[in-house]
Amino acid sequence: MRYLSHLFEQNRAWAADVTRQDPDFFQRLSRQQAPQYLWIGCADSRVPANQITGLLPGEMFVHRNVANVVAHTDLNCLSTIHFAVEVLKVSHIIVCGHYGCGGVLAALRDVRLGLIDNWLRHVQDVRWHYRELLSGLETEGQRHDLLCELNVISQVINVSQTTVVREAWSRGQALAIHGWVYGLQDGLLRDLDMCVTAESELLAREAAALARAGQRTWGSA
Ligand code: CO
Repeated sequence: MRYLSHLFEQNRAWAADVTRQDPDFFQRLSRQQAPQYLWIGCADSRVPANQITGLLPGEMFVHRNVANVVAHTDLNCLSTIHFAVEVLKVSHIIVCGHYGCGGVLAALRDVRLGLIDNWLRHVQDVRWHYRELLSGLETEGQRHDLLCELNVISQVINVSQTTVVREAWSRGQALAIHGWVYGLQDGLLRDLDMCVTAESELLAREAAALARAGQRTWGSA
């Protein structure tokens, strides 16, 4: 192999290792996937969905983009949600942000980077929507942490309001939408208490999550 041969070597070693532990693993997986979870996370290389949750190939359907945004006009994300809910019939959709997110920081600072500014406009909409909460904080670090959480809360609301999820709930399909944040500094996931299982729960869940937003890190970080 001429290019990136070390990655192919590592791949062969990985496949051999998996096969040694479970000889039928790849044959079994090649016939079908039946993941229970859809992960919507940041594209950041430090937040690999399967690794940080200890899940194997086949156990998590994954969509990642810069700053884990769910935009109502993003056919890529909407198609992923559609396939996960209607074909794979996942039981859980996890929106996972992370502290230290560069996309969220760029949105917070209003820096001009080019094309991506248009994508991060969605996070700036979150900043604008919750400007009073954010303005009450003393340091940029606190505002950054809080905006990472508020962005997750907002994207959970967006997932919950997609036609796909609303239709799933209206026909009685069990589906929970979760909001999590991952800590780059300790490798741990935090649950933002933003778990929505019906559209009617949205307002109460948002209020409860907002009441606790920021408290996870202000004491420690
Ligand atoms: Co990020």
